[in-house]
Amino acid sequence: MNENLRAFVKEKLKHHQHRYLHICGVEEVAVELAKIYDVSIEKASIAALTHDLLKYDTIEEQIKWLDQKTVEKFRHIPVMYHAYSAAIYIQKELGIQDTDIINAVRYHVWGRPNMTTLEKIIYVADFAEPNRNFEEAKITRNLAKTDLDLALVYAMKSSMDYLIEKGINPSIDQYEAFQYYEEVTRGKIK
Ligand SMILES: [Fe+2]
Ligand SMILES: [Fe+2]
Repeated sequence: MNENLRAFVKEKLKHHQHRYLHICGVEEVAVELAKIYDVSIEKASIAALTHDLLKYDTIEEQIKWLDQKTVEKFRHIPVMYHAYSAAIYIQKELGIQDTDIINAVRYHVWGRPNMTTLEKIIYVADFAEPNRNFEEAKITRNLAKTDLDLALVYAMKSSMDYLIEKGINPSIDQYEAFQYYEEVTRGKIK
């Protein structure tokens, strides 16, 4: 399944082997979670394979896919461009028109309130794939097998804590997504 797409991704990232391995790890976790949560395995695989496709394109190349409003919004956080540009690129260059896949790619870095199950799966898989060798990834992976929302909120909190530790303020969008899922999981967190 998706072998042509996999070959395309591998070729595009041929000078970034570690990123290709990360993508394969994301796909593995995403497919596993798709089976548990009854989401299309095909969609989970496509979203995982394409989510970081433009990660190593130059900023100029990335922003050429974006509208001015998006370019302005992330001017000071250019790492966000790769997600938003990949969401457009897969539509225009790869003919992927499935809104759920497109949004899973677009929101994979910070998440957002009221995500679909596929969006949650890609967010969690990106954070927790087996090549991520920190403890929180392992914890998230285990949580995700029984409660996707708990895994999501745990991963969001860990990402924000990591930024704060490095002296970087998480964005308002990140807080908003986190608070939304904190509310959703209220009472479940021990
Ligand atoms: Fe990414
Ligand atoms: Fe990623």
